[in-house]
Amino acid sequence: MKLLLVLVMLTASAAKYQDLSGKMFTFPLETNTAHVRLNPSSQNFEAVTVCYRFFTDIKRDHSLFSLATPLHYNELLVYWDGINKVIDFAIKNKEVFFSELDYKTNIWHSICTTWDSESGLVQLWFDGQPFTRKYVNSGATIAGPVIIIIGQEQDSYGGDFDVKQSFTGMMSDVHMWNYTLYPCDIQNYVDGLNFTPGNVLNWRALDFQIVDKVLIEHKITHCY
Ligand SMILES: *[C@@H]1O[C@H](CO)[C@@H](O)[C@H](O)[C@H]1NC(C)=O
Repeated sequence: MKLLLVLVMLTASAAKYQDLSGKMFTFPLETNTAHVRLNPSSQNFEAVTVCYRFFTDIKRDHSLFSLATPLHYNELLVYWDGINKVIDFAIKNKEVFFSELDYKTNIWHSICTTWDSESGLVQLWFDGQPFTRKYVNSGATIAGPVIIIIGQEQDSYGGDFDVKQSFTGMMSDVHMWNYTLYPCDIQNYVDGLNFTPGNVLNWRALDFQIVDKVLIEHKITHCY
């Protein structure tokens, strides 16, 4: 009985943080349910940087990163608007748009976004290319409890998913920091070089739950 308990505890702690290096989440089905909930190590942010890689063939609208608080369901949202062909980046339900991205299907892309509550400025890096800095929202910090979801877009706190905004494809290397990274750090992330892993979400020690059909697979980039 004691041994069993220890085993259960070991499995539970192993399940809490997983090293997903070299792996990816595969979202193979278009649904309004399948998603991954990412559990951050802290809940309040004066500034944030979020980076990830993704691969998809969907052309319609889709969510890439959805962070909600009880106050704003688009507290921090990164979203592809398939009609206007822009990245919609929202902080506290206020949006800015980034256009003329080379948003090709069926190849890996990387996105990094930063926001600082003091200046209110956001910036987007798409495949390592920096886009114009823009003002979105200043003064207030992000105050949790936050719910972070990939694969679906939250139209309420933790729910109201819309199949027409869902993500299908693959996603990898998700990191989040509670400060804005320097351009060189972002470049190192994009190039897959040494970088300081996220201190809020760390792909190498990720705390998450999978809901419905999402798979963890090896991210094979070429054959030998
Ligand atoms: C960022 O998070 C770390 C770890 O939770 C914490 O020690 C630090 O104070 C935070 N920094 C800021 C600027 O919020």
